[in-house]
Amino acid sequence: MSVPVLLDCDPGHDDAIALLLALASPEVELLGVTTVAGNQTLEKTTANALRVLEFVDRGDVPVAAGAARPLLRDPFVAAYVHGESGLEGPDLPPAQGRPVREHAVDFLADRILGSDHPVTLVPVGPLTNVALLLARHPDAAGRLERIVLMGGSIAEGNVTPAAEFNIWADPEAAQRVFASGLDVTMIGLDVTHKALMTGEHAERLRAAGRTGRMVAELYDFFHEYHARTYGFEGSPIHDAVALAHAFRPGIVETVERHVVVDCASELCRGRTVVDLWRRTENEPNAHVGIGVDADAFLELLVERIATFP
Ligand code: RIB
Ligand code: CA
Repeated sequence: MSVPVLLDCDPGHDDAIALLLALASPEVELLGVTTVAGNQTLEKTTANALRVLEFVDRGDVPVAAGAARPLLRDPFVAAYVHGESGLEGPDLPPAQGRPVREHAVDFLADRILGSDHPVTLVPVGPLTNVALLLARHPDAAGRLERIVLMGGSIAEGNVTPAAEFNIWADPEAAQRVFASGLDVTMIGLDVTHKALMTGEHAERLRAAGRTGRMVAELYDFFHEYHARTYGFEGSPIHDAVALAHAFRPGIVETVERHVVVDCASELCRGRTVVDLWRRTENEPNAHVGIGVDADAFLELLVERIATFP
């Protein structure tokens, strides 16, 4: 049986690739896509979700736009990573379609309550929409199978030395999610930085067809930032790791630990404080990713994206 999935995202290069992986995987029943401000403005992330769906002729998948800014913090876009459009690199036609009229939070609730089977929510941007879902539709949130989020890290940061972007962008929203009591899985930088897509993977995709070529062009742009910033030989595809974990057990190894988000300090704003060595009495509230079968993930990613024409 396929896994019913809702993808909440801020496309964003790796969000776009995660979306394509979901569409190309028969194990996934994609119920819809919701968008949030993060990598770029809500207008741009929403347009990008539509552009990617239309590029592979999947305009049938509904897109609902959500929060245009974090709960409390000032909006901040990562144009230095994803470019002015949020999807620099490939020449993607402008969106022809429009998002549904429903706000993302109400759309998520409707899809969760309307599903015959418990839904897996995969948030891969700031968690603003998810926190609002918990506040406005606790009944629907309580019906979720689980939340598999891309965000946080045990040890490193990317937007600051202390924090990962999705959590840092809206730390209060993230804390609300970790404190929700729901089945939460955190796929953080400790995992995604160990599963780098390389030029070899990109060349395989470039030869696979127009969609593979488009993904290779997304990689070409995204890799530039990671080579410059980290000296990486490749590029993490953060969001696709979280999506893969939602339907392919065994790719990511997790441990159950307590996670709390630092919302108080500026220096460590948005840090996911993971009690890895059980130094407190705090009960675990998340499955935290600690390892990844990088080869298995990348083979899955290339194999599935290559199925598009
Ligand atoms: O820190 C990486 C995360 O922030 C990814 O989800 C990327 O798309 C950005 O949203
Ligand atoms: Ca993202």
